[in-house]
Amino acid sequence: MSHAALPRRLSLADLRRQVQAGQRLAMLAVYDATTAGLAERAGVDALLVGDSLAQTVQGHPTTLPASLKAMVYHTRCVVRGSTRALVLADLPFGSFEASPAAAFAAAARLLEAGAQMVKIEGGAPWVVETVAFLTARHVPVCAHLGLTPQAIHELGGYRVQGRGAGAATRLADQARALAAAGAAMLVLECVPRALAARITAEVDILTIGIGAGPDTHGQVLVAWDLLGLTPPPRPRFVRDFLAQAGSAEAAVRAYVEAVRAGTFPTAVESYGEGADPAAG
Ligand code: KIV
Repeated sequence: MSHAALPRRLSLADLRRQVQAGQRLAMLAVYDATTAGLAERAGVDALLVGDSLAQTVQGHPTTLPASLKAMVYHTRCVVRGSTRALVLADLPFGSFEASPAAAFAAAARLLEAGAQMVKIEGGAPWVVETVAFLTARHVPVCAHLGLTPQAIHELGGYRVQGRGAGAATRLADQARALAAAGAAMLVLECVPRALAARITAEVDILTIGIGAGPDTHGQVLVAWDLLGLTPPPRPRFVRDFLAQAGSAEAAVRAYVEAVRAGTFPTAVESYGEGADPAAG
């Protein structure tokens, strides 16, 4: 079979080259073929099949009910609707905690569905061990630190993480450990801008921010948030790009252009060391 005939998606190496060339990365969380195709036409580099689908698609209050079966189904939808963007998918709550072998079995289902990478939340030593187990077995891994929604009951709410010297150092240590275990990418959610900048400087992997300021290598938003589909109150890092655009595709293109230009997020769309604990 000729490999030349295959449509070529962006690879992690392509994304690394983009960053080395000084181009910021635009990622979007999507769940279906139509939005995936639209996002890709608008220039999005990477499509995340997020477990946020439990909230946005299924109407649950948290991401916890997202099942592996649902993640596989939506990954197939996103893969069918796109040809060029890198596709990564969340390992949902309950699919990877029992053992590294369980995590591998779940990751294999997502890769069979067409994902090129899996995302795993957390930075505890057992997560680091799981990341090492996966990457040793050819599963590219995106880590996820800061506000990790699967730990919502432990965190006690959607709060900014990593504020204060001790918490910041703990997060930076976890980021280094995850990178050493082989993670190729790191999502930083709801952390102070300065901490995201520090981690981006300290680890040699791609960093993608959401509520983490403009200094990461790229940004991710939930597509339905940037299209203004999710009801207020919206977190401060969400910008309604549709409000100024004539179509959904133009709105996503405006997001991509703002990320590339470094004009999204602004200071007011980012968190500092201030006392406002809620990620609002
Ligand atoms: O599930 C999701 O959509 C995510 C992003 C918000 C990063 O994890």
